[in-house]
Amino acid sequence: MNILQFKKHLAKLKSITKASDRTGWVIDEVAFLIYSLVKFYKPGLIIQIGHLWGKSALFLLEALTDGFLMDGERVEEGILSGDTKFLSYVKSEWPKVKSGKLISVDAFPYGNWKQGIAYLEKLYGKNRFEFVVEKSDKFFEDRSNAIKKKYYGKTILGVVDGDHSYEACMNDLIGMAKLDASHIIVDDLKWIPHIQKACNDFVHAHPEYSLSIFLVYNGLAVLSKKQ
Ligand SMILES: C[S@@+](CC[C@H](N)C(=O)[O-])C[C@H]1O[C@@H](n2cnc3c(N)ncnc32)[C@H](O)[C@@H]1O
Repeated sequence: MNILQFKKHLAKLKSITKASDRTGWVIDEVAFLIYSLVKFYKPGLIIQIGHLWGKSALFLLEALTDGFLMDGERVEEGILSGDTKFLSYVKSEWPKVKSGKLISVDAFPYGNWKQGIAYLEKLYGKNRFEFVVEKSDKFFEDRSNAIKKKYYGKTILGVVDGDHSYEACMNDLIGMAKLDASHIIVDDLKWIPHIQKACNDFVHAHPEYSLSIFLVYNGLAVLSKKQ
């Protein structure tokens, strides 16, 4: 990521979609945490519920497609050559680098959203980004089987940031679990207490997932499938 260029892309996205300053899109700190999680897990597919004007999608796409930590571009030159036992263990646990794709879903896009989608497609390519105008429950109903088949054995990462009611958040978590998502990021954990309750209740009912929470800013959860 070239931060100056990236800032320009976000400013352009904001101006062409006519995003309002009252928006509920992610703040930078949360967006960078999500960027890092994509770098860490290197998913083959990201499914995001709740696109709005595309700030979080921009970070997700940048994380999937810029070369940093993906194409061998690293901070440190060389790698852990001293401890061969440790190195071979870490290598065996290293997620395989794949050409990941983002599917972003929003039921009620508004403003100049079409121009925003076209801009993201132009920046990252239609093969890396698909936008779906649909309610998430319908999306899971229509697409889950095909996605499961196509991405079998690959890491799927979910981002839940759509309808913020307890029921809808729970349904999105269940939809992601049925897709066999390895990791599910949930925004607004602290800002909206019933979102945290939905995450806790989900993990209680699905013990195959563990819950990590980040309780600053508006709060973020990561639910990870135990290996
Ligand atoms: C908080 S905003 C998403 C912000 C976005 N993730 C970002 O940070 O750039 C929530 C979005 O969810 C969408 N939404 C609400 N209910 C939905 C549903 N049932 N299915 C899909 N999207 C929904 C809204 O239209 C809205 O754009």
